Amino acid sequence: MFVHRPVMLAEVLEVLSPEPGRYYVDATVGGGGHAEGILEASSPDGRLLGVDRDQSALEASAVRLARFGSRVRLVHGRASDLASLVRAADWGQPSGILLDFGVSSHQLDSAERGFSFQADGPLDMRMDPSAGTTAADLVNGLSHGELSRLLADFGEERQARRIATAIVAARPIVRTAELAQVVEHALGGRKQGPEGRIHPATRTFLALRIAVNDEIREVREGVNAAISAVAPSGRVVTLTFHSLEDRVVKRIFAEATGIGTPRDAYGHPLEPATFRRLLSHALKGDEVDENPRARSARLRGVERDAGPQMRR
Ligand SMILES: C[S@@+](CC[C@H](N)C(=O)[O-])C[C@H]1O[C@@H](n2cnc3c(N)ncnc32)[C@H](O)[C@@H]1O
Repeated sequence: MFVHRPVMLAEVLEVLSPEPGRYYVDATVGGGGHAEGILEASSPDGRLLGVDRDQSALEASAVRLARFGSRVRLVHGRASDLASLVRAADWGQPSGILLDFGVSSHQLDSAERGFSFQADGPLDMRMDPSAGTTAADLVNGLSHGELSRLLADFGEERQARRIATAIVAARPIVRTAELAQVVEHALGGRKQGPEGRIHPATRTFLALRIAVNDEIREVREGVNAAISAVAPSGRVVTLTFHSLEDRVVKRIFAEATGIGTPRDAYGHPLEPATFRRLLSHALKGDEVDENPRARSARLRGVERDAGPQMRR
């Protein structure tokens, strides 16, 4: 069964503010939880284009959203392709775009997808199992230096070199449980105290998942595409789950709202900002949502200007 509780649902809906008669895009529709909220809030005639790179997520959201009939279209694709997906849908410019990055509980909990060190499965981790490099390809194919850099850059793993050495010595590694064990051994087992609650392989698995799915580029290109595609007065809302992704969104939104853009001698931005911030700071998931998945969530949102015809 596809189980995924939407993170910060009330807050996402408040910031996105769906209205009847308008058109929305959920670029990471997953099990359709947020999409359902958007469609309910924009009843009776708001429309939604749902995108996901995982075909099984689209199948699950199709069931959940069936009652909305022709108000919903679901397409297989990546957030980074948003511009062409929106063009192909031919519904005009969306009034709001949601990007809820990261993995779904369904992906994490399906052992055969290979995301989890808690349930043994093939070392895969592809959100789209129909394409691309698997985690096993990286673990068994990268050099020691490349592996070490990947773990340090994407997992912020301080013991990256030590783990890379252990992985290279144990290759080939083809199952998630094998990799978890190799990393645990390399780091001398589990720590005592509060740190012991986090499995030693957590950062290694996160780093591999980010690399396999090219997640940082997806966030950058997806959010940039949303900024370009959204209609005047429309909103772009993001949920991210780790600091590397949040930093990318923060930078793009800062540029779009004119913070950090070059200024002339009088302090006026050289390129006028076309967006305004909807929240002064990122909303933190653990402060507003008891869902354990919300723990590291960060919600951000911007709104596009109404357009030249409305400016005074
Ligand atoms: C956190 S879940 C979304 C959950 C959804 N908001 C809900 O309420 O059910 C993330 C989903 O987005 C998909 N995904 C992640 N990155 C993506 C990307 N760059 N392009 C398209 N889909 C992506 C994943 O396959 C997964 O199904």
